[in-house]
Amino acid sequence: MKRTHNCGELNEGDIGKQVILMGWVNSRRDHGGLIFIDLRDRYGLTQIVFNSEIDQKSHKEANVIRDEYVLAIEGEVKFRPAGTDNVNLPTGKIEIIVKKLDILNRSLPLPFALNEGDKVGEDVRLRYRFLDLRRGDLQKNILLRHKVGRTIRNFLDQERFCDIETPFLTKSTPEGARDFLVPSRLSPGKFFALPQSPQLFKQLLMISGFERYYQIVKCFRDEDLRADRQPEFTQVDLEMSFVSEEDVMNLTEGMFKSIWKELNKGELKTPLRRLDYKDAILKYGSDKPDLRFDLEIIEVSDIVKLSQFEVFKKVVDSKGVVRGIKIPNGAGFSRQEIDKLTEEAKIFGAKGLAWLKIENNEIKSPIAKFFTPDILEKIKSEMKGENGDLLVFVADKVKIVWQSLGHLRNYLANKLNLIDNKKYEFAWIINFPLFEYSEEDKRYVAMHHPFTSPNEGANLNIDPGEITARAYDLVLNGNEIGGGSIRIHQREMQEKMFELLKIGKEEAEGRFGFLLEALAFGAPPHGGIAFGLDRLIMILIGTENIREVIAFPKTQKATCLLTGAPDTVSEKQLKELSIKTDNKV
Ligand code: AMO
Ligand code: AMP
Repeated sequence: MKRTHNCGELNEGDIGKQVILMGWVNSRRDHGGLIFIDLRDRYGLTQIVFNSEIDQKSHKEANVIRDEYVLAIEGEVKFRPAGTDNVNLPTGKIEIIVKKLDILNRSLPLPFALNEGDKVGEDVRLRYRFLDLRRGDLQKNILLRHKVGRTIRNFLDQERFCDIETPFLTKSTPEGARDFLVPSRLSPGKFFALPQSPQLFKQLLMISGFERYYQIVKCFRDEDLRADRQPEFTQVDLEMSFVSEEDVMNLTEGMFKSIWKELNKGELKTPLRRLDYKDAILKYGSDKPDLRFDLEIIEVSDIVKLSQFEVFKKVVDSKGVVRGIKIPNGAGFSRQEIDKLTEEAKIFGAKGLAWLKIENNEIKSPIAKFFTPDILEKIKSEMKGENGDLLVFVADKVKIVWQSLGHLRNYLANKLNLIDNKKYEFAWIINFPLFEYSEEDKRYVAMHHPFTSPNEGANLNIDPGEITARAYDLVLNGNEIGGGSIRIHQREMQEKMFELLKIGKEEAEGRFGFLLEALAFGAPPHGGIAFGLDRLIMILIGTENIREVIAFPKTQKATCLLTGAPDTVSEKQLKELSIKTDNKV
């Protein structure tokens, strides 16, 4: 038998046709003389009917059929009997009366019912991922991912970008995570690192003159996993020569416009909003702010330092800050609810949460007595507080304040249902600091990576914490979906950068000698960006679980439940690699 149609395409226009379908048994209902089966393939479901009065042989054979058997059937397209239409299916008005059946394969009883995939534990689904992927929801996600990938490729191809592969067996690139290492058999005791990104290779391609490169590429980072992180994930990676930040941002906006168009999401208005890093941190307490709701953070240090409230005064005197959030209609919050807010703020180090309720034009708060009416009025006016609002404050070192209020902002938006899930709010975050101080390493580290160019005219001899970078992140609905920069293209500047990062000459030569060398042979000015494809698809689908958009993902513990990787290997393999392990196998 040769398939004539798929399981999603037959309708009333096909009545009377003789057809051959192939697919899986989605469900089976046995009514004695009549057996109904929903036959499924990637395209949809079609009802097929075995009728003992029409064809005894196939009806008899159909008795053994169970869920997920694979069938080929031949039959005639007929209207379903009046009143039995399924309006939810494109094929819901017709059925196929079977005249010939071929059971192509059987199936064991399933470890979980496919239509209850969202109710079983994820472990079971990952263990039997090949079955899980039969579910409509997951197929939809993977097909959407394909569509977005194709749109990106088409767009970049039109923009004259060239798709070039870069090595997986390579040297470590510093993107801030731990490397996955691969031992070399032919160079005993030496290791490749899997790339955390193709960063250095794409820069080399610019030096080679390709001018516009892109790749949809796997990157590998051995970091602690979160809901939106995988140890291997996919980047849309690109790089351009002779460009400024504006060029990279325009190109990106064009790419997102084409994705929005392809997915019928309406016209994406560009240019996208731009926010200074400093303002993002001040107003939203995050460098990836969710802009689907307001709840802005307001600075009140100068106002409250004149109060008698010791907590605030002390903090401002010791160079800390006091900032607050106005919670509209929050005056009704119970003591318990405010305690919960305090707990949330404490996650990021806040020592407490001070609050003022505005009720009947009066301020109610255990700390109100420490403030003169004039100061209370000033706070109210600065925060645009109105009757019924609750004002909450954190006083501490700057970083603790923005982090805890940034977190509180997101917590409150969820609690108060302020997030419109149909909205897409993009923003470019620009003017990042070039360095950030690492308390752990007791030195400055690159905020993006060490190949990022400082802003033009920057004086590198000032306090490193003050220097800004030619870097930009693209944020969508509170997620960092991309980041890039204009690069350093001169050897001297790159050496200076390593020096500021306290990477010694020898170490720089050993790790990045090939880049330094290439920069000395006519490197053009260049810059680029990389997007997290998995994260973008997550947002487009509306899931918070990155595994829902990856065909074969890893667990939170970076294992694959399907294949059992990572796994032990034989002594022989280890010996060939000159490796001894501590763990007894
Ligand atoms: P960056 O490290 O910001 O930049 O990575 C780019 C984007 O990749 C996504 N991403 C991840 N997605 C899932 N799981 C992870 N573990 C993960 N880590 C990162 C994020 C992020 O914005 N070479 C530079 C780019 C450049 O400068 O051109 C780079 O890799 O969405
Ligand atoms: P206390 O004087 O410790 O009883 O605190 C009085 C109020 O101020 C309580 O609501 C505390 O949660 C709050 N509070 C204490 N420390 C801080 C702080 N650093 N920032 C904001 N509120 C604080």
